[in-house]
Amino acid sequence: MINKKHIILVLAALILASCSEPKLTPYDLKRAKEFVLSSLPPLPRDPSNKFADDPKAARLGELLFFDHELSATSLVSCSECHQPNKGFQDGIALGFGIDQVHRRTMPLRGIQWGSWFFWDGRKDSQWSQALAPFETPAEHGMTRDMVGREVLTKFRSEYEGVFGHAPDIADWPYRVSPLLEGAEKTGWDTLPLEKKDEINRVFANIGKSLAAYQRTLLPEKNRVDRYFEAKLKGEEPKEADVLSAPEIEGFKLFIGTAKCDNCHSGPLFTDHFFHNTGVPVDNLGDPDFGRAKIVADIKQDEFSCLGDYSDAAQSECRELEFMSEDIKLFEGAFKTPSLRGVALRPPYMHAGQIGSLEAVIDHYVERPDPFANMPEMDGTLALHGNHNEAPMIELSEDEKANLLAFLKAL
Ligand code: HEC
Ligand code: HEC
Repeated sequence: MINKKHIILVLAALILASCSEPKLTPYDLKRAKEFVLSSLPPLPRDPSNKFADDPKAARLGELLFFDHELSATSLVSCSECHQPNKGFQDGIALGFGIDQVHRRTMPLRGIQWGSWFFWDGRKDSQWSQALAPFETPAEHGMTRDMVGREVLTKFRSEYEGVFGHAPDIADWPYRVSPLLEGAEKTGWDTLPLEKKDEINRVFANIGKSLAAYQRTLLPEKNRVDRYFEAKLKGEEPKEADVLSAPEIEGFKLFIGTAKCDNCHSGPLFTDHFFHNTGVPVDNLGDPDFGRAKIVADIKQDEFSCLGDYSDAAQSECRELEFMSEDIKLFEGAFKTPSLRGVALRPPYMHAGQIGSLEAVIDHYVERPDPFANMPEMDGTLALHGNHNEAPMIELSEDEKANLLAFLKAL
C-alpha cells in the first residue's frame, strides 16, 4: 500500500537525483565550445622555416630526435627528456641530461600553435628552439660543428634529400661555439665568416628538420572533448565519455568563480602568453626571473625570424617585431602551460615546485606574493611588490574537489 510517507520519500529521491546531475546551461555549452579540440584552428604556418611541413624533413627530424649520438656522452637524446610515453616530458622536477638543468622539461604536443618557446619564451620558432639544447652543457653538451659533423656523417643522404647539397666537413674545426667560453669561443671567433656561415646553415637546417617532426605531434582528444562535442551536436555522449557531476561542476568553476580561463583559455587551455602567478622559488633556491631576464635579448638571437637563417621576409616576423619588451610586465612571468593531460605529469610549474594538482589548486586560492624572499634582478628591478597576476578566488573544499575532478578529466 502506498502512503504519504512513500510519496515524500520518492519525491525527495527525485529532487536529490536532479540536484546531483548538474545541468549544462546554454552559457556553459557556449563556453565549452571554446575548449573542445575541434575548435582548434588549422596549424599556423611558420614562414621562417620553409621545411616546416615537409614530410622528408619531419622524417629526418624524427631520426635526430631519438639519436643519442648527438650528445657529448652519446647518452642524451631529445627523447631522453621528452619521452613519448610520458607526453614528451620526463616526470621529474628538473630536467636531467649530462647534468641537471634548472627548469622542468616541457611537454611538446600542441605547442606548435604558440609563438614563443621555453618557459620564458626566449625563442621565437620551434627550429631555433631545437638548437639550444645541443649547445647547453647540462643537456647535450655539444657544439654546432659537432652536431653538424655527426649529422652529415650519419645522415648525409637524408639531409641532402631535404636541403640539397651538403658542405664538405673535412676542413671544419672541432668544438667551436660562440656561446661557450675559452677555447671553444676563441676557436669560433677566429673562423672566417664563410666558415661560420656554413656551419650555422647546417645547424639551422638540423633545427628546421627537428621542428618539422615536432609539428606532427598533435594534441589528442580526451573525454571532455568527446562529451562536449557530442552535447554541442545535440547528441548523447557515449557512456564511457559521460562526465561525472563533480567533473561538470569543476568545468563550471574553471570558467566561473575560479577564473582559471583568464589564462588557460582556448582548445589548448593556454593563452600562449606569460604571467607571474607567484610560484615559489625553485628547490635549488635559485631566483628565476622568467621572461624579464631575457626579453631584451630575443631580437639579437642570430637564429630568430629576423636573422640570416630564417626563410621569412621581414614583414612575416610581426610577432617578433612588435613583441613587448616591458621588463616590468614580465617580472617572474612564465609561459602558461597547456592543461591537456595535466594529471599525468606531476610535479608542476617551471621548476616542478608544486607536487600535486591538489597543491596547485591550493596555491591559486592562497595566492602568495611572488618573490617574497627574492633578491632584486641586477639591482634594476624592485621585485618585492605584489605582481601575482592570478585573481583573488575563494573555493570551498567541495569546490576544490570538483575543480580537481575536471583537471583530471583533461
Ligand atoms: C636534459 C633534458 C632535455 C633535453 C636533452 C632536451 N630538452 Fe627540451 N626542454 C627541457 C627543459 C628543461 C625545457 C624547459 C627549459 C627552459 O624553459 O629553459 C625544455 C623545453 C623544450 C621545448 C619548449 C616547449 C615549449 O612549450 O615552449 C621544446 C620544443 C623542446 N624542449 C624540444 C627539445 C628538442 C628538440 C631537444 C633535442 C634537440 C630537446 N628538447 C632536448 C629538457 C630537455
Ligand atoms: C594569471 C594567469 C593564470 C591563471 C588565472 C591561472 N593560471 Fe594556471 N598557470 C599559469 C602560468 C603562467 C603557469 C606556469 C607558472 C610557472 O611555472 O611559474 C600555470 C601553471 C598551472 C598548472 C601547472 C601545469 C604544469 O604543467 O606545470 C596548473 C595545473 C594550473 N596552472 C591550473 C590552473 C587552475 C586550476 C587555475 C584556476 C584556479 C589557474 N591555473 C589559473 C597561468 C594562470
